[in-house]
Amino acid sequence: MPEIWLAPLHGLTHYHFRNCLFRHYSGFNAAISPFVPVQETAKLNVRKWKDLAPENNTAVELIPQLMGIVPAHFADTMNALHQEFGHTRFNWNLGCPMAPIVRKRRGCGLMPFPDEVEAVVEAACQLPYRFSVKMRLGMHSSEEGMEIARRLNQYPLEFVVIHPRLGEQQYAGLPDWNALEALLSVLQHPVIYSGDVFQPADYERLRARFPQIKTCLLGRGILRNPRLAEEIKSFASERGCVSGFNKFCEDKEMARIGKDEIIRFNEFYEDLRQTLEVYRGANGSLSVLKELWHYFACFFQLTEEQLHSLLVIREPEKFDEAVREIFFLRKN
Ligand SMILES: Cc1cc2nc3c(=O)[nH]c(=O)nc-3n(C[C@H](O)[C@H](O)[C@H](O)COP(=O)(O)O)c2cc1C
Repeated sequence: MPEIWLAPLHGLTHYHFRNCLFRHYSGFNAAISPFVPVQETAKLNVRKWKDLAPENNTAVELIPQLMGIVPAHFADTMNALHQEFGHTRFNWNLGCPMAPIVRKRRGCGLMPFPDEVEAVVEAACQLPYRFSVKMRLGMHSSEEGMEIARRLNQYPLEFVVIHPRLGEQQYAGLPDWNALEALLSVLQHPVIYSGDVFQPADYERLRARFPQIKTCLLGRGILRNPRLAEEIKSFASERGCVSGFNKFCEDKEMARIGKDEIIRFNEFYEDLRQTLEVYRGANGSLSVLKELWHYFACFFQLTEEQLHSLLVIREPEKFDEAVREIFFLRKN
């Protein structure tokens, strides 16, 4: 059975979202949190990181993700998160391509500097925790990732997550599976895949080409179709007893937009909306919901115009009304 983990999506897959998702949909074995910045002990107050608190992560195991470049700050932060919350697994974000992060040589911005990468990994691996890395192919060239892979091979990492694009691509173009193949030929750690798995067929293609990859992160695909982890797993368990993959996909495609699934999505959405409103207020929750609707629009097959007319609404009540209408039209 495939291992499916929820990917970190900063600003979107925090604990309110995760818990609503896990209440309504199954199929996840673990999740990686959106990143938190490492800091020195004097500046740390990990209690404020509610996203990482065990009481907010009872449904599925959560691996905290860290962002930073100073080796000593990693030790301070990992020790504090262990003492406060009991975490023993940590992931390092070496993949974020956003300009303000990259400018500070954080995230993917550190990939051209293998000595600095190695210094962090060396320090983190001296601690009694399981440490892992999430990276891209490189910032400007996949040769950067190859060099990092050679360095990472010298340390006892738990796994390496690879999103096979360059940082300078952001999310443009397709994941480069040839470059991934070259990277896998160098990297000796277990690899977790992340990138553009939007339907079971994408997962099956990945599995066929890279059978050594046992775990897959789902990010935007889950926002586009929260049932995706279930669909991938149900395909895996039915594999061998369905007559043909295409037929299965067509069936699933129809089921995805069936009335029952719209009702289920509606229940998930209401739970999420109410939870966000309690914690962020009507306006705060509206901005998160608008961000999410960029992806939910795919589930409902909204046109660009329909999405645009939803996103320009400023009043929370009117926005909810417009969403109710979308649900109503799809259900009937
Ligand atoms: C809005 C957004 C926020 C993201 N935040 C993070 C993050 O905090 N940490 C991280 O490692 N990756 C982050 N990513 C990258 C995703 O985890 C994932 O690797 C990428 O989106 C490709 O996978 P997908 O096609 O399944 O979404 C983010 C991506 C998006 C679109």
